[in-house]
Amino acid sequence: MSINKETKRITTNTIQKMKEAGEKIAMLTAYDYSFAKIIDGAGIDIILVGDSASNVMAGHETTLPITLDQMIYHASSVIKAANHCLVVVDLPFGAYQSNSEIALASAIRIMKETGAHAVKMEGGEEIIESVKKIVSAGIPVMGHLGLVPQSIYKFGTYTVRAKEETEAHKLRIDAKLLQEAGCFALVLEKIPASLAKEVTENLHIPVIGIGAGQHCDGQVLVMHDMLGINNEFHPKFLRQYLNIFDLATDAVKNYIEDVKNKDFPNENEQY
Ligand code: KIV
Repeated sequence: MSINKETKRITTNTIQKMKEAGEKIAMLTAYDYSFAKIIDGAGIDIILVGDSASNVMAGHETTLPITLDQMIYHASSVIKAANHCLVVVDLPFGAYQSNSEIALASAIRIMKETGAHAVKMEGGEEIIESVKKIVSAGIPVMGHLGLVPQSIYKFGTYTVRAKEETEAHKLRIDAKLLQEAGCFALVLEKIPASLAKEVTENLHIPVIGIGAGQHCDGQVLVMHDMLGINNEFHPKFLRQYLNIFDLATDAVKNYIEDVKNKDFPNENEQY
């Protein structure tokens, strides 16, 4: 039996054991109660309440505008549906970059006000003091390297990161620093598969990839992309499992037609 199935509640220890046993870790984002219920019920290992909510829920162009209060709102809804999986919440842009005191205060708000199990933070060396402070307060931290969308204006593009040796070298060092600082897992976003493989093999904590190839210990996708709710985003790394956009559009068109044709409601659909 898989470690997931024999575990009542997935914890950071469970996903560490999964890495050691070679059992792949499946993570998806969710931002609300109803979808979290489906995703948790289907048996996911980790739900990430990602700051991608800024894009897919609020319609912003980047992840920068979403606030700590808004992340807390999304996470509080998700946690009510998550009976089995580990729930990790993104610390949003502005909630941790200033200094480690502010970072800890933000992480404490997430834990206290949502009931989530861990936080995720983007960056390497620059955030190490904050990671240490949060971990030493007893809050599990997931790192995030490679394409880090909160720094989009620094890089100016969403293309593959760390293709050049200088950036790959920094990423290797940052990954080790995050592990030493106490991160329980690391997300690698949009980097060459060969580099992700090397980092995954050299770390003892689980590495979860998005656009980082098949050798990571686990994979994460944004729910709206893999379910085809969002039909405007088709990167090479994305496997779309459903086309909710088209299915929902057809359903809504049928409803409109039925109302206009006086076909809905019929005699059986009224009191
Ligand atoms: O916010 C998010 O959805 C993420 C994933 C892309 C890893 O950080």
